[in-house]
Amino acid sequence: MNPQGAQRSRSRLFQPFPIGKGGLVLPNRIWLPAMVTWRGTEDGFVTPSVREIYLRYALGGAGMIVLEATGIRDIASGPLLRLSHDRFVPGLKALRDEMRAVSDSVVIPQIIDFLKIATRKPTRVFMEDAFRRGLLAESVLGLSEAQFEAALPRYLPSPRHQRDFFYGYRQTIEDLSLDEIRRIPGWFASAARRAQAAGFDGVELHFAHAYTMAAFLSVTNARTDRYGGSFENRMRLPLEVVRAVREEVGRDPLVGCRYLGSEDILGADGAIHGNTLEDAQAIGVELARAGLDFLSISRGGKFEDAKQPPVGEAMYPYTGHSGHTCIPRGKSDPVGVNVPLAAGIRQAVRAAGLTTPVVTSGKIIAFDQAESILQEGRADLVGMARALLADPDLPRKWRAGSDADLRACVFCPFCEEEDQRHRVVTCTLWPKGPDGGRSRLTPGVWRPDAPWNSRHVFSFADATRVTTA
Ligand SMILES: Cc1cc2nc3c(=O)[nH]c(=O)nc-3n(C[C@H](O)[C@H](O)[C@H](O)COP(=O)(O)O)c2cc1C
Ligand code: SF4
Repeated sequence: MNPQGAQRSRSRLFQPFPIGKGGLVLPNRIWLPAMVTWRGTEDGFVTPSVREIYLRYALGGAGMIVLEATGIRDIASGPLLRLSHDRFVPGLKALRDEMRAVSDSVVIPQIIDFLKIATRKPTRVFMEDAFRRGLLAESVLGLSEAQFEAALPRYLPSPRHQRDFFYGYRQTIEDLSLDEIRRIPGWFASAARRAQAAGFDGVELHFAHAYTMAAFLSVTNARTDRYGGSFENRMRLPLEVVRAVREEVGRDPLVGCRYLGSEDILGADGAIHGNTLEDAQAIGVELARAGLDFLSISRGGKFEDAKQPPVGEAMYPYTGHSGHTCIPRGKSDPVGVNVPLAAGIRQAVRAAGLTTPVVTSGKIIAFDQAESILQEGRADLVGMARALLADPDLPRKWRAGSDADLRACVFCPFCEEEDQRHRVVTCTLWPKGPDGGRSRLTPGVWRPDAPWNSRHVFSFADATRVTTA
């Protein structure tokens, strides 16, 4: 090991981190936040490609690996992974067993509820559909598409229907009946039980971005019943979910959540709307009081300011201003942009007398940067999504002081564009396929004692145990 490596073994980043109430210890303080891979089968089962990428992350040695957003409702949701039924347990268990065999990383799935969303329809298709649903008179079908569009407010006076026309139908929490809301905690709890059965160390509740739970937590929540309006009402469902999950799995498995330190929704008025850090501090204190084992802080990623999708595509919540704050993808975006949010939430949680660990993420790229975040007490754990996608071996390379071997993320939009198109997520820096075309591969495993060849492609023979503690 080089002298830098020897020094780093004493760094805070590479000290083990006890977490939760069940005696779990992260081997180091590097956290892989959830990133969807679009590698499941069309009906949500684990594939060899899913196993390969997570095994690859496990070999890289991040202290925590959060498995991508995994659905809790038993509905068709394409190649997203699911924990919505017991039939998904065996595949996920095989994946977890394989990861355990090669690393000490703690592994939990992020469990998510999301509402219905449809593609933006061509004008004629929209008109015919609206007529079938009784929204348009039959005579309107005699209009040309241009005539209908020119007088849209006359034919579709409801702003909601106009939005459906321009952006595609999107269900919101204001559409949910009380009966539907009451089923949500049970779905989360059952998914958490299945995660436990599959051998995961707990779950991360997805309370962030554009999805159901974040919408309940938001000041934009426009429900007029006990699930909207006041802070107490907006906290109600998230706290019901936390209680239901904890009752289901017991004290020991990790139960934490990812939520937004700031929503950053750019309004038509040019002002920023949604929850601010102050709102997020109050939310964090309540969630910590409810007994969550960690708070992972993200930012933005909302539908409200997303761009209009092309006809035939659905809205994607990472295309507007809030999306950009969620996944900062410009080379000129400052590094560590979200650290102040995590620091502010951590401060509020500590001031309330609680010790719940706080995770930060967002353009963290260098060892010194990560270490100073921890040294200065701005977060307890350092999340790196794209940096670990670009180079899953980052923890081992940093630990060995071999930064020169790093395949450093350049924060291009490639992986995020693959996500938007629901294509298998890869990194543009990975070695290409034999034809030199688009990479569908999983990169090779770095070995400090062997010449490093960045074209080396992962094979299951590489899956020998590694350690980064
Ligand atoms: C391809 C891709 C998929 C993502 N999927 C998820 C997800 O499933 N759940 C989630 O909470 N965040 C998701 N994110 C956001 C990341 O976890 C992370 O918060 C964001 O990329 C900023 O961190 P970074 O700068 O370290 O990449 C995704 C990001 C990318 C690029
Ligand atoms: S595709 Fe671009 S942004 Fe994504 S991990 Fe690779 S270098 Fe980073």
